Amino acid sequence: MELLDGQLTSRAIKDALTLQVAQLKTEGKKVPHLAAVLVGNNGASETYVGAKVKACAEIGFSSTLLRLEESVSENKLLSVIEELNNDIDIDGILVQLPLPKHISDEKVINAIHPSKDVDGFHPENVGRMVQGLSTFVPATPHGIMLMLEHYKIDTRGKHAVVVGRSNIVGRPMSILLSGNSNPGNCTVTICHSHTRNLQELCLQADIIVAALGKPEFVTASMVKKGAIIIDVGITRVPDASKKSGFALKGDVNFKEVAPLASYITPVPGGVGPMTIAALLKNTYQACITRNGDGN
Ligand code: GUN
Repeated sequence: MELLDGQLTSRAIKDALTLQVAQLKTEGKKVPHLAAVLVGNNGASETYVGAKVKACAEIGFSSTLLRLEESVSENKLLSVIEELNNDIDIDGILVQLPLPKHISDEKVINAIHPSKDVDGFHPENVGRMVQGLSTFVPATPHGIMLMLEHYKIDTRGKHAVVVGRSNIVGRPMSILLSGNSNPGNCTVTICHSHTRNLQELCLQADIIVAALGKPEFVTASMVKKGAIIIDVGITRVPDASKKSGFALKGDVNFKEVAPLASYITPVPGGVGPMTIAALLKNTYQACITRNGDGN
């Protein structure tokens, strides 16, 4: 079993971006600027957005964190996005999900200009991804593809079972793995809460991407020997022995599954850091595309 180390892999990507940003500065050009919008006080969202902003600083990007009250109106949030769309210094806009119930995710995502949509959630960018055109690929699936590439994992012809059909992970992941690309060229099965023979399907998988948000859902009895296991889950589970009062659990029972796997991502330290690295790559790309690389 080999661990797919997201810390190490994301470090390599961040080091490369650091050099690219330094080069932009040397040439007197603008550095990438990410605007992150956080609505309310969801603890996990605070942590994720904090990590994204910190990563920007680490590699020399500018970042702006806009905090809005849980009670903010949808119109106010839409006007904040409009301002960011019109701000020529901002290259990427990210609105952390989930949003409070009174705000429509769809309206908010549609309001972000596609050229600044570094999350790749805007329908125009999703459509481009489906067609295999250049676009912003959502950060988590993009990060997983970068991880498979980094470890030179040959995915061609393999059966990938994606468990979970969210717009953020499961669906884009299934599109990317089935694409005519490397990594890619998989035969993909996408499973969800109505799938009847989940265990049987998982047992056939050469690659399992677990992205359903249920702690330790994937057990040894669902995994074929030699399978590649990608664990996207990161759920806070109460744990009195921890200072924070919670432990982070993946969607895979790591202890049981790791001995069977050829490769497996740990939680934390697997997909999470890759998500951030992919977001940074998208933001760099947005900056270069919007401002030109000066060639
Ligand atoms: N919530 C969970 N994952 C993500 C993500 O990748 N982007 C945003 N904006 N919100 C999220």
